[in-house]
Amino acid sequence: MANRLTIAIDGPGSSGKGTIARRVAKDLGFQYIDTGAMYRSVALVASRRGVSWEDAEALGELTRGLRFEFAFSGDALTVSVDGEDVSTAIRTPEVGRGASDVSTHGPVRTSLVAVQQQLGARGGVVMDGRDIGTVVLPDAQLKVFLDANLDERARRRHRELLEKGGDASFDAIRQALAERDHQDRTRAISPLAAAEDAVVLDSTDLTIEGAAAVVLSLAQDRTS
Ligand code: DC
Repeated sequence: MANRLTIAIDGPGSSGKGTIARRVAKDLGFQYIDTGAMYRSVALVASRRGVSWEDAEALGELTRGLRFEFAFSGDALTVSVDGEDVSTAIRTPEVGRGASDVSTHGPVRTSLVAVQQQLGARGGVVMDGRDIGTVVLPDAQLKVFLDANLDERARRRHRELLEKGGDASFDAIRQALAERDHQDRTRAISPLAAAEDAVVLDSTDLTIEGAAAVVLSLAQDRTS
């Protein structure tokens, strides 16, 4: 049993990390923490309250006042902020852009990283994001950096959107993903990067099941 292991999964948008992290958490009976959902929630609440995604200080204050809850109903992850279910509202492309913007600011990161470290402290957790292995849980027993090439990630995102009834073009999605990657990889604080001791897994030619199986077997290795 991979008892109380701490697993960090980082990677760019649509690399499959969320689905894989969820699958691994479920198999191991661990808690899954989606840190991207937290940055998305900050962007959503800020735009509702008329706080600019560029206003570092106001965003920091806003973030410090938020209370996050994660729950599973069946296979679906419910994200609540201050008691409100925001699971659907945070998944729009607009909020995704805002999340990338608000995540560049130190006061926002400091506040969310503290919450994430508390959630990860007892182990038995799979946490995914951009800086989990490098900053949030540097002592995680298993770190995976999940990548996939841009075209494949754009195809996945496009398919997801079509399934939800959306109608953005493949090219527009590819372009938006490329821009967000660039911002996430080049920001000054905690940019997206693989930790030195991370296992880099390219999921371009893997199914979700295949990639999850690799992570699960790495988790078993860490406990045997
Ligand atoms: O994984 P996602 O698409 O839900 O993340 C949305 C944005 O949040 C992403 O563009 C960068 C930011 N983010 C971050 O800076 N650090 C994290 N640990 C998770 C997400």
